[in-house]
Amino acid sequence: MEYKNVHLLDHPLIQHKLTFLRKKETISQDFRTILREVAGLMVYEVFRNTKLRDIEIETPMSKAVGKVIDEDIALIPILRAGIVMEDGILDVIPMARVGHIGIYRDPESLEPVEYYCKLPEDIEKSSIFIVDPMLATGGSAVKAVDLVKEKGGGKINLICLIAAPPGIEKLTLHHPDVDIYTIAIDSELNSHGYIIPGLGDAGDRLFGTK
Ligand code: PRP
Ligand code: URA
Repeated sequence: MEYKNVHLLDHPLIQHKLTFLRKKETISQDFRTILREVAGLMVYEVFRNTKLRDIEIETPMSKAVGKVIDEDIALIPILRAGIVMEDGILDVIPMARVGHIGIYRDPESLEPVEYYCKLPEDIEKSSIFIVDPMLATGGSAVKAVDLVKEKGGGKINLICLIAAPPGIEKLTLHHPDVDIYTIAIDSELNSHGYIIPGLGDAGDRLFGTK
C-alpha cells in the first residue's frame, strides 16, 4: 500500500544498519550507536529540499557567495527513545532548536500518557521535526502533534524508523498535513501493540531497562 504523506528512505546504508537494530542479539551499547548513526543518515534525505539563502563571505583568497540554511528548525524528540535519534540529528544539524515531549503508552489501554512538554518558543514559522523510532498504534505521535499544534507549531514532520500501517493511518486521519519520514513500513501489530517484525521495545533496547 502506498501512502501519499509517507516518504520511505531506502538508502542501502540505512537499510544495512536497520538489520542490526532489528536483530535481537544487538546489545544496548551497539543499539544506541547504530540508532544515532541511522538518525544522522536519515536527515540527509529529509533535508534534501531545505531552503537555502545566499550570504556573502570571504575565503582566504577572495569574496565569495555561500549558501546557508534559511529555516528555523525545531527538533522535538519523544521521550525516551527519541533522544538518541536527537543526538544523531544534532550531529548533522547542530543549529536546530530542541523541545522535548514525554509520552508513554499505558500498557493495558495502549493510550498515550503525557508527562512532560517543553517546546521552543515562537515555532509558528519553524520547520518542526518530531522524532521517535516507533510509529505503532499512532497514539503517541498524534498526541505529540496535538501538543505542538497547541503551541502554534508551523510545518510538522515526523521522523521515525519503523512505521506500522495502523499508526500511519491514525496519524494521517488526525493530522493529514504531517509528512512522515520512515525507513521501513512493517506489516502489522501484535495484540500488545508491538510492531511485527519491528525491533522490540525501543526504549528498553536503548537503555537496557529489560
Ligand atoms: C514507544 C515508542 C513510541 C511509542 C509508539 O514508547 O518510542 O513513543 O511507543 O507507540 P504508539 O504508536 O502505539 O503510541 P513507549 O510508550 O514504550 O515509552 P518509552 O519510550 O518511555 O519506553
Ligand atoms: N513501541 C516500541 O518501542 N516498539 C513497538 O514495537 C511498538 C511500540
